[in-house]
This record gives sequence, structure tokens and C-alpha cells, in this order.
Amino acid sequence: MPALVLLGAQWGDEGKGKATDLLGGSVDYVVRYQGGNNAGHTVVVGDQKYALHLLPSGILSPSCTPVIGNGVVVDPAVLLSELSGLNERGVDTSKLLISGNAHLITPYHQTVDKVTERFLGKRKIGTTGRGIGPAYADKINRVGIRVQDLFDESILIQKVEAALNDKNQILVKLFNRRAISAEQVVEEYLGYAEQIRDYVADTTLILNNAIDEGKVVLFEGGQGTLLDVDHGTYPFVTSSNPTAGGACTGAGVGPTKINRVIGILKAYTTRVGAGPFPTELFDADGEALRTIGGERGVTTGRDRRCGWFDAVIARYATRVNGLTDFFLTKLDVLTGWEQIPVCVAYEIDGRRVEELPYSQTDFHHAKPIYENLPGWSEDITKAKTFADLPKNAQGYVKALEQMSGAPISAIGVGPGRDETIQVNSFL
Ligand code: GDP
Ligand code: IMO
Ligand code: MG
Repeated sequence: MPALVLLGAQWGDEGKGKATDLLGGSVDYVVRYQGGNNAGHTVVVGDQKYALHLLPSGILSPSCTPVIGNGVVVDPAVLLSELSGLNERGVDTSKLLISGNAHLITPYHQTVDKVTERFLGKRKIGTTGRGIGPAYADKINRVGIRVQDLFDESILIQKVEAALNDKNQILVKLFNRRAISAEQVVEEYLGYAEQIRDYVADTTLILNNAIDEGKVVLFEGGQGTLLDVDHGTYPFVTSSNPTAGGACTGAGVGPTKINRVIGILKAYTTRVGAGPFPTELFDADGEALRTIGGERGVTTGRDRRCGWFDAVIARYATRVNGLTDFFLTKLDVLTGWEQIPVCVAYEIDGRRVEELPYSQTDFHHAKPIYENLPGWSEDITKAKTFADLPKNAQGYVKALEQMSGAPISAIGVGPGRDETIQVNSFL
């Protein structure tokens, strides 16, 4: 099983960090292929809790080589502080590899991200403010700065000056902000060059060779399917492709090399930031999910919006990612409800709709059609096998599997590494 993708099947925060870490000990490489430090992946190992933003969750497994692929946008200040934070906790980060083609986030991207949001007012996306959208915009606009540019001072100066030309006009004339000094940016970024140099490598070559040699490579998505710039709830999305195809472009590995695509699926639904969310709850149940599930953002500390499980979304994730398996997380959070509503379809302007509508207007009008599934009250956090689960919890998992279109191969019953029921092996 040389290459597998692990990605978010909903709006992010499904538990990708935990799932990646769980596999980390058995894989040779863990590769981030898109996004940047907008991600917040929590990994709990014993009594230690780690919050990773830019680094692949595999960095916590000593046998695994973590890789930041070309599709990622890298904030070098965040990278270095995340590395030193882990080093202080005794984690060896020396094996990290970074693609020289990955683009850099600079202070002007963060400024543009924040002022754009402020000027959007009520229509804001609710971004993480990390400069992700503006950095990807520069990449597509062919005025981005790449990791490799750090090692050629004259190129770096030219590129930063070119990028700041129009940005400073916009900042000063449109947003009434101070211009950003190209010199200062260059000086700061040259200071990062030597600290990063040893990690930089031809990651595409290394990963393709590894797969050809039968090594196991895991691609770890950030964000989630419904935050994908092409397949998500545009414009309320991030600016990259968390979906499975993003692993190919964001790491330079062809689709024929990928054998398995695992969707991480929360047993209910959450979302951070603005945008449509049909099963969102505004009542005591929503508050209970937030409290019991600890649904507060790892990156921005914002409360996550919470709602019941949405099978329409899960089916859509199966379709656009070609999912082979699901990893269902946080089943334990649902313990204690007598009945658990699950959205099986939408009602849109009086019609029953089984599949996610492509029309944004229709999706905004979608009202969930619920089926109530019987709940359970037994503690499930110690369950080790599917048979250990109470009958109604088994029924809930089976019902979700049937509605979602791919087998549920693992079930999370707690945040820890070992609080997982493995139904089918991933490797
Ligand atoms: P990610 O961004 O997809 O990696 O997810 P986050 O780390 O942002 O949010 C998931 C949260 O749920 C983290 O606090 C995890 O420790 C926690 N978590 C993951 N799986 C489980 C599970 O099965 N049960 C419980 N109770 N918590 C879980
Ligand atoms: P992980 O990897 C949840 C959301 C933001 C906002 C939108 C755009 O932890 O699942 P951006 O800063 O990316 O331009 O913001 O995307 N968002 C996330 N939501 N989990 C994430 O990452 C997210 N990364 C971005 O809240 O709505
Ligand atoms: Mg997260």
C-alpha cells in the first residue's frame, strides 16, 4: 500500500491530526500538500497534547519523514517557531523536508488578508488572517515568492519589489494603510534563509522514488472537502484544494500512484468562519455538542459552529474525492442523546434533494430532512472493537456508512492515539 491520502470530508477539524498520527508509526513519509498555517491539527500522545499548524502530523513519529510539499504556502516565521517549540519538547525535527517550489507567505499577505476581511464587513469570509488567500493569489498571478528564492538575494529583491508595487498602491490608496517596505521584508526573509536551507529538497523526486521502492507515503490534507476552492461552498472556502486531486498537484505525484483515499468524518458537523451550513444548530443541542466536543478552533480560538451529521455532505465527499474509506471521529461525543437526528437529504424550495446542489442559491435554501436514530448512554471511550460498542452506537455507525457511500474503517472514541477502533486496516 505505497500511497494514501487522508483528508477532511466536511468543513475541517474532523480529526485529521489524530488520524495521521495514528498511522505515523507505520508510514515512511507524511506529506502536507496544500494550505498553510491556517490549519490546526491536534495530536494527543499519552498526557502530551500538540497543536500543529504547518508541520505534518507525522513529525511526532520518529521513524517517519515529514514533508512540506510544493502546494503548501509557508510562513517561515511560523515554521521556525513551530520547529523550535517542538524541539523544546524533545521532538526531533531534523528529518523535515521542504519543497523549494512551495510559496512563501510574507507580512504583506497577512496585512492584505486582514484589511480585505475588514472591508468586506458583513460579507467577510471569516478567514484565519494568516495571509493564505493573498499568498495563493500571488502564486496564481505569477508574482509569488518561493522557498528557493530565499537563496538568491538579487532575485528575492526583484520579486519582493515587484509584488509590493501594486500592493502598496492598494494598501495606501484603497485601504488607507501604511506602505510596506520591500527592504524590510527582504532583510527579514534573508535572515530565514540559512535556518531553512538544510530542509529544502527536491521533494517530488524523493517521494516518487520512495513510492517506486514500495515505501509508504501518506498525504495529509489540511482544511476539508467543503472548504475546497473548486468543490467547496465558494466563496466561503479556503484558497487551495484539500480534495484528493490536490495531493497530486501539491506533491508532484501522479494519480496512478495513489491507492487509497481516506475521508476523516466527524460523527456530527462543525464549521468555523462564515458560509452556509444546513444542519447548524442554534439551540441547547448545538451548545452541548460544542461543550462536550471541545469545539473551539486550534488556530484562532473561535467557537466552532455545530450541527448534526449531514449525509448529503458525506456522499459528496465520497464522490469528489473517490474515497475508499472513512475514519469516523468523535463518536464518543454523541453519548447521552436519546435520539440522534441525522440529515439524510435536503428540502429545497419544496423538493427533496439527495445530492449536494451545485447551485449556491439552492444550497443556501437547503433545509435538512432528518431521520432520528436511537442513541446510547454507555461510556464508549474504552471500546477496542466494534463489538464492544453498544448496539445503538453500532447501528449509528452502520447507518452513516450506508448513507455515506464508503466503508467506515476506523472509529474514534476519544482524542488519544489508542482511543480508536480499527475495523479494517488502512495499510
Ligand atoms: P483537524 O484539524 O482535522 O486535525 O482536527 P482538530 O485537531 O482541529 O480538531 C479535532 C479535535 O477533536 C481535537 O481536539 C482532537 O484531539 C479531538 N479528537 C479527534 N478524534 C477524537 C475522537 O474520536 N473523540 C474525541 N472526543 N476527540 C477527538
Ligand atoms: P484544519 O486543517 C476549519 C476556514 C476559515 C475560513 C475559511 C478561509 O484545522 O481542518 P483561510 O484563512 O484559509 O483563508 O480561511 O476557511 N478554515 C478552516 N476551518 N479548519 C481548518 O483547518 C481551516 N482552515 C481554514 O475559518 O472560514
Ligand atoms: Mg483543525
